[in-house]
Amino acid sequence: MRMAIVGTGRMGMAIRACARARGHEIVTMVGQADNDAGSGLTRERLAGAEVVIEFTTPNAALPNIRRLVELDLPVVAGTTGWFDALPTITDLVTARGGALLYAANFSIGLQILLRAAGAMARAARGLDTFDAAIVETHHTAKLDAPSGTALELQRQLRAVDPDRAFPITAIRLGTVPGIHRLAFDGQAETLNLEHLVRDRAVFAEGAVRAAEWLPGRPGIHTFSDMLFGETP
Ligand SMILES: NC(=O)c1ccc[n+]([C@@H]2O[C@H](COP(=O)([O-])OP(=O)(O)OC[C@H]3O[C@@H](n4cnc5c(N)ncnc54)[C@H](OP(=O)(O)O)[C@@H]3O)[C@@H](O)[C@H]2O)c1
Repeated sequence: MRMAIVGTGRMGMAIRACARARGHEIVTMVGQADNDAGSGLTRERLAGAEVVIEFTTPNAALPNIRRLVELDLPVVAGTTGWFDALPTITDLVTARGGALLYAANFSIGLQILLRAAGAMARAARGLDTFDAAIVETHHTAKLDAPSGTALELQRQLRAVDPDRAFPITAIRLGTVPGIHRLAFDGQAETLNLEHLVRDRAVFAEGAVRAAEWLPGRPGIHTFSDMLFGETP
């Protein structure tokens, strides 16, 4: 397929390598320097792209995604920290008959953790001898805290057990690509569910697989929808 990438940082580069390894052509990569508020995302610049993958910064993501949807291009959105604007983007995608797939985390392992976490929270419901918390660790250059993944984990856990807060502690440390841990602590026992990324190539592969899947599927999708056919 012919793909375009918006964002030339750690993830943009990892996505380019993964897409090429899977036999795709990268028609263009758009960085910050020539894309103030989405202005560099033109029909000419993106000519030939069948799908666009967006991994930039929380502030840049919204104008970029809006512009890409207005250009009627399917968008895989990996940037975190903009999800408060999902209702607005959903309206735009629906009005234009576009296609958007977004996820705070494109790792398959993390998506499995979300489902396992839901089962844990369900089993521990009403057991007040247990306390529960989320801890996430990421590299020091990450702009948003807590991570979008930790917030999504918390949202799903609260839906299962509204009586627990599932507070999040965010740690920024060195070059860690991403660690998420859900802990249930009892009087004399601790239950940990942890996902640790050793290489951000896992996110890149998930995003490229999403880009292969999205064209021809109008609407708003999550990575979970794609993997499991439904959002847990
Ligand atoms: N969903 C997932 O699975 C997943 C996984 C990892 C990371 N993420 C998220 O993905 C995002 C990017 O992560 P990263 O590690 O690649 O960050 P990064 O290395 O800091 O790269 C961000 C890139 O975005 C570029 N940028 C900023 N504004 C832009 C604009 N208007 N147009 C085009 N490019 C623009 C920056 O350009 P300059 O270099 O010129 O400033 C930079 O190259 C973050 O929000 C992160 O949390 C998501």
